[in-house]
Amino acid sequence: MPQTVKLTEFTYTRTTAPWMTLPATQQPHWHHHPEYDLIEAELSGALPLVAHSEIREAKRALGLAALGEARVLQLGDCAESFSDADPLTTSRKVRNIQRIAARMAERSGQQVARFGRMAGQYAKPRSSNFETVGGVDLPSFRGELVNSFEADTAARRHDPERMLMAYDASSAVIREVRAHWAGTAEELDGGPWVAHEALVLDYENALIRTDERTGEQFLTSTHFPWIGERTRQLDHAHVSMFASIANPIGCKIGPTADPETVVRLCQLLDPHHTPGRLTLIVRMGHEDIHVALAPIVRAVQRAGHPVVWVSDPMHGNTVTTGTGRKTRLVSHIIEEATAFRHILETEGAHAAGLHLEAAATDVTECVGGSVPDEKALSERYETLCDPRLNPDQALRVIDAFF
Ligand code: PEP
Ligand code: CO
Repeated sequence: MPQTVKLTEFTYTRTTAPWMTLPATQQPHWHHHPEYDLIEAELSGALPLVAHSEIREAKRALGLAALGEARVLQLGDCAESFSDADPLTTSRKVRNIQRIAARMAERSGQQVARFGRMAGQYAKPRSSNFETVGGVDLPSFRGELVNSFEADTAARRHDPERMLMAYDASSAVIREVRAHWAGTAEELDGGPWVAHEALVLDYENALIRTDERTGEQFLTSTHFPWIGERTRQLDHAHVSMFASIANPIGCKIGPTADPETVVRLCQLLDPHHTPGRLTLIVRMGHEDIHVALAPIVRAVQRAGHPVVWVSDPMHGNTVTTGTGRKTRLVSHIIEEATAFRHILETEGAHAAGLHLEAAATDVTECVGGSVPDEKALSERYETLCDPRLNPDQALRVIDAFF
């Protein structure tokens, strides 16, 4: 039943979206919180973080990439932190994206559509509900939108007030991104554009707004949301929600995806065969990609979906060191990215670009280039979640890809 909620500043109508009754994995447990309804009401009445016109521009830019006329770069942290939502840190991240995109443009000879993996990348899917930190079993850290990184049982409780904190942090970051985003001749006009994994349905659902002129529904938490590898089940809530919004959308495709499932995803998410609507973000690992990708590309092409093909050469290549640290080898990342390009081009498709977890500072989280071996990882291992490339390593990946 639609329900009208009165707050001091906003009156709005909350409708129960159909996908909220479908199964969904990786969701927080927080509905028993005494303030839950008020928090949801406040978020549902909040201003959009991004404008419909900007979302449409981003879709046009991705449309060029689908047709082979542009490249795509998505880059940023695995998990952002609220404490990074300040002007200096954000401007550094924006400059890093500019620099890496400029290298991509120079090497490819094409314009680049740039997306910061930022201003909303606050929720993480986890393979286990528990993790061991310093010998203590704790509920897993699920991103600052859900709980705290602090290694303490109480701090790891799922807290819906964090949805409002994530909204405020995203708002602060997007303001800085807008202030620092300057294009050059090689870069596509438009932007700034940001992207994140739209994982927590309570948060994302509250930020869907209808364009009164066209009747389209836009997810206004970001320009370009994507569905993660763990939440792309055909009959679950994420796919249903994404099918209902007009944004350009992404979907991760891992090594266990079969061609029929991917075609079915394309039918649900890109029913009108629109260039730029759907980006398939391939993350298979440097070994599996050699056998798993080509049949999927052929099936999608046969089905006539003009998708944007992007490689995420990070998430299929995570390894654990002897001391229990998560890392990735730059050599594996390069192998997957170059195999991706080769396979796409052999199949007559456009390998549009890369989705990279990369920091703007000289972190030592992945091995290769300026980080010679596992021992060097301890110098600046700062990530809240997965290991990121530093700027030197990210440029190496770009240079190897083109
Ligand atoms: C991510 O992008 O941080 C992530 C969790 O990726 P995937 O869904 O591909 O595992
Ligand atoms: Co990650």
